[in-house]
Amino acid sequence: MLRRVLQRASTGRHIAKSYYLASHLSPSLPPKCLFSSSSSQIPNSSFVEQLEDANKATSQPTATLSIDRSGLHTPPEHSHESTSDSELVKHLKGIIKFRGGPISVAEYMEEVLTNPKAGFYINRDVFGAEGDFITSPEVSQMFGEMVGVWAMCLWEQMGQPKKVNLVELGPGRGTLMVDLLRGVSKFKNFIESLHVHLVECSPTLQKLQHENLKCVDEDITDQVDKRTVSTLAQTPVSWHAALEQVPSGVPTIIIAHEFYDALPVHQFQRASRGWSEKMVDVAEDSTFRFVLSPQPTPATLYLAKRCKWASTEEVTKLDQIEVCPKAMELTQTIADRISSDGGGALIIDYGMNGIVSDSLQAIRKHKFVNILDDPGSADLSAYVDFASIRHSAEEVSGDVAVYGPITQSQFLGSLGINFRVDALLPNCTDEQAESLRTGYWRLVGEGEAPFWEGPDEEAPIGMGTRYLAMAIVNKKQGVPVPFQLAIDIVFEPTLLVTKKQVATLEGVYNNNKHINAVVLISINILGSQPKPSAPDFDQPRLVETLHQFSVEEEEEEKMGGFLSSLLGPGEANADDSSSSSDQSSVLAFHSTARWQLHFNEAKESNKLIVIDFTATWCGPCKMMAPIFSALSTKFTAADFVKIDVDELSEVAQEFGVQAMPTFVFVKKGKEVDRVVGAKKDELEKKVQKHL
Ligand SMILES: C[S@@+](CC[C@H](N)C(=O)[O-])C[C@H]1O[C@@H](n2cnc3c(N)ncnc32)[C@H](O)[C@@H]1O
Repeated sequence: MLRRVLQRASTGRHIAKSYYLASHLSPSLPPKCLFSSSSSQIPNSSFVEQLEDANKATSQPTATLSIDRSGLHTPPEHSHESTSDSELVKHLKGIIKFRGGPISVAEYMEEVLTNPKAGFYINRDVFGAEGDFITSPEVSQMFGEMVGVWAMCLWEQMGQPKKVNLVELGPGRGTLMVDLLRGVSKFKNFIESLHVHLVECSPTLQKLQHENLKCVDEDITDQVDKRTVSTLAQTPVSWHAALEQVPSGVPTIIIAHEFYDALPVHQFQRASRGWSEKMVDVAEDSTFRFVLSPQPTPATLYLAKRCKWASTEEVTKLDQIEVCPKAMELTQTIADRISSDGGGALIIDYGMNGIVSDSLQAIRKHKFVNILDDPGSADLSAYVDFASIRHSAEEVSGDVAVYGPITQSQFLGSLGINFRVDALLPNCTDEQAESLRTGYWRLVGEGEAPFWEGPDEEAPIGMGTRYLAMAIVNKKQGVPVPFQLAIDIVFEPTLLVTKKQVATLEGVYNNNKHINAVVLISINILGSQPKPSAPDFDQPRLVETLHQFSVEEEEEEKMGGFLSSLLGPGEANADDSSSSSDQSSVLAFHSTARWQLHFNEAKESNKLIVIDFTATWCGPCKMMAPIFSALSTKFTAADFVKIDVDELSEVAQEFGVQAMPTFVFVKKGKEVDRVVGAKKDELEKKVQKHL
């Protein structure tokens, strides 16, 4: 139905508009970046009709849906089989025919995308304006650069290991990795620790990655094998068909951008007999069609597993459900690897933090097309179920922690993309500035760019809230940047309006020293390294920016010490990490050891400690933060302490914290009182009482 509404709404209009409409109508509509085109629409009507047929048939099994399709699978001699069928279509029909029954949507999707001879990804470059769709790394160099900042911060948190596997799953053209390596290239210790592993099923794309990473194959003395090195950063590079093939035993950083959405999904539909799997069959006219399986299929086990992770309400409101066993298995492999070798994974994709209903889509040449039409000539992708990723990771190991999802806008914004664009803009040509601005908007904006002055149908569409970022890390490393401090980016209407205008960013960051710190990390890491074609940004502006945020560590621009002091596991200095308010004396602890030390010291005195157990995702906690901070300046005889329950979960457990915020009053090492909830007056009264 929704597809029909959209189809009507978008007829004769630009696809970006229809997509914009889609993004405001439903969470289950296509978010992939599409290029402009004046005549696109969402031609999925036949898909809807067939589903409706199937639906009717399931409630009246003998009426319209023939579940016994033996006549179809062994077509009579005179049946006409199109001679113009592509290799892949013949192959798919062959499987259905010889199997004697339809195949699952997942099997269809897998064959269409990655069949070794004729899969969509296998023999060509499908990205960019000339291809079928565009992805964030292709939109702007800043995407790969910011992911590089993330990877380097994680490496710092890992204690700067000498050897690291940097794995990218499904690297496409290799653009993200190129921008990442260039962005961090001045940090020799990090670069020298890296061995890049690219997990890619397409020989054509492997070749393109080899080219774009400027790889050379070097002979190894005394060995037959050759070693491939990217001359961008003198980093060894290897290719693999699956993550399992990447050598283990070395700390690992895994990047998966728009990889999960290409993993095959099973689709289930609610029918009178319960959940039935949707299958792909061959109709009498020799075209593909959807049917429902009359009996439970093996994938039903995964459906049951997925539903167990959801509430009854979440499931009962749905008539269709998608499950992705490959995503569950991949996540378990990632969690296993991170738990045994250390490191973390960053997953960025479009999707939902819950069960996905019906999101499978096909895109050819930047237009939505019918999923069953000319398979192999269009990209198939589905929404990523981030909640399922979380459960899969947590199920496999207690040594990993999962953070997010946060929006791509929060992720890139908290890492300082605004500053990056600010740094690059001043010396760009008009054309480069235009491309930076639109790229920036596509990555972090929402809907049509407010600054756009060109034709409506070419307006850049922001994808910042449609794409989500999630991290899975080894617990030893603490909370990864920027998941502990993701902020909502405030888009100033004036931001980037006029050509070469430097964004006015005061007010976005200037109240949060931690965020400034992360932004500084980005500035430090990326420095002045635009793509070779872009001019350097001017150094005085960077210094001005540093002054503007008056961060004491200004002199410490050399990464090592600077990052360690900010992020080092177990080393955080409580004073450095104190609340952002200038007057506040709230001590924030980011290491259990540090907290323990402070706690033990306080046991010896009669001083009151008030501990605020808080969480970044907790609204009431945010509300209480300035009040707590004000109390710390009013009652200087007490110690006011802030502990993030996700960061120092063991301390929260020790104090039996079950709701946020909880304020615990401690004297001589013993709890004397507590306030549960955002109760301002009660909190103040109890502080006075126990002083
Ligand atoms: C949607 S593209 C994303 C490309 C890239 N990450 C980007 O953002 O531009 C999916 C990538 O994953 C690869 N891929 C898809 N399925 C795969 C599989 N099962 N094994 C390995 N690579 C796969 C494709 O060849 C392609 O490089």
